[in-house]
This record gives sequence, C-alpha cells and structure tokens, in this order.
Amino acid sequence: MTNKLKYFIGNWKMFGDFGSFKIINKINQFSYKSKKQTIKRKIILCVPSTLIHFFNQKLKSKFISLGVQNCHYHQGYGPFTGSVSALMLKKAGADYIILGHSENRFEGETNSLIKKKIISALKQKLNIIFCIGETLKEKNKGKTFTILRSQIRSSLSKKFNMNKIILAYEPVWSIGTNKIPRIDELKKNIEFIKTNFKKIFKTTKTPKVLYGGSVNAKNIKLFSSVPQIDGFLIGGASQSSKKFIDIIINYYK
Ligand code: 13P
Repeated sequence: MTNKLKYFIGNWKMFGDFGSFKIINKINQFSYKSKKQTIKRKIILCVPSTLIHFFNQKLKSKFISLGVQNCHYHQGYGPFTGSVSALMLKKAGADYIILGHSENRFEGETNSLIKKKIISALKQKLNIIFCIGETLKEKNKGKTFTILRSQIRSSLSKKFNMNKIILAYEPVWSIGTNKIPRIDELKKNIEFIKTNFKKIFKTTKTPKVLYGGSVNAKNIKLFSSVPQIDGFLIGGASQSSKKFIDIIINYYK
C-alpha cells in the first residue's frame, strides 16, 4: 500500500440541513480516532453554502476541512441577485471550493466563466478542486484528450498559484450512474492530465489529480490499484457518514 497523501473529498451537492451536522461529526470523529495511523490522508467535505458557517462554528476540534461547491465570478460584493462570491464564502468559513463541476457546466458554465471564478477564489486564498471530464458523446467520438486539454488550457492561467489547485477527473457519464471507467483507461486519462498540465504550464511539478464518478465502498478497492490517482471526489456516497467512512476503510484494506 502506498504512503502517498490521498484525498477523500465529499461533494454533498444540493443536500443537507442543520441536522446533517451529525454526518460531519461522525466523519470528524472517525478522522480523530485514526489520526495516529501513519497513513497520509486528507478528508474534506464540500457542503452547500447555507451550511458552511454553521458547520464551521459547531465543529470544535477539526480533523477534517470544509469547503463549498461554487461561487459567482465577481470579486467582493455586487449587484448579482441570489449569488454569493468567493469573498463571502471565505468569510463564512470555507477553505476549499469545487469549481467547474459538470452539473454547473451543464447549466451553461463555460471554460472562460470558470477561469474568472478560479481567479476570484484564488484571490481569497481558497483551495480549488477544479473538475474536468468528457461526456459520453465526446468519449465515443474519441475526443476525451482534446476535451481535457481544452478544459485545462482555457480555465487556468499561467500566473496561478498551482499549489492551490487540485484537479478532479470526473467523466460526465460516470456521475451518479454506477458506471466507472475501465482501470486501464482511467490510468491513461489521469496520466494524460498530469503530463499535459506540466506541458501547458511548463512546470516540473506534478499536479494532484483525483477521480470522481460513482465511487462507493465496493468499487474503491479497484481504484487503489492505480497509484496515479491522488484521491477521490465522492458525490452521493458522501451524504452518509457510514458509506463515506467505509470507502476510506476499504481503500486501505
Ligand atoms: P457520484 O459519486 O454521486 O457519482 O458523484 C460524483 C460527483 O459528481 C462528485 O463531484
């Protein structure tokens, strides 16, 4: 078993109320109990913006980090009814933010809009989980690499602090479908993202790349055979403390 740092990140999506604190609390306790282990692991939960402040205040000792799932591109305050900015989310207690998720791209978010959001979030020193991935149609047309390359190239600028960005490869067709990529294909795509990122940004530093899409306690063991994966972005299964904790336990089994 590898001793490289692995991320287990939950994306709650549109889920949860104040009572859902018990889920956060159980995951925090699990993290506390296993803190003496030599395993290098980081647990982050990205919750709705309505809950970040409450959870942040209620968690007395934090063995997990908290984040949110999107922001408006505008920096600071402004005339944008119904929106929240990175500044407001940072003030409310977020350390991490998911940007570029396919569910938001589907609602019309473009690479250039994502780029502006990344700029805004970095200005607030938020850590970014930047999602990329191809649709089934693009995959079937053999366009996966082209799509991944253009998502990286047009949403990130060379001036960014790359230490604050974690990429998450989430094939759109695997989200919430119980379908996962073939392991050899996944390996190839993760390697492509890492190599291409280094090429585009002329850096020798290898970026962290997570996998996301239908990860559960049963299939996690399959992924542990791919050392190139730096962790997981977990949707549905992160809405249950048991399912989320079982994923972590089974990964290291
Ligand atoms: P599921 O784990 O529910 O497939 O969702 C993945 C995802 O979208 C994480 O961002």
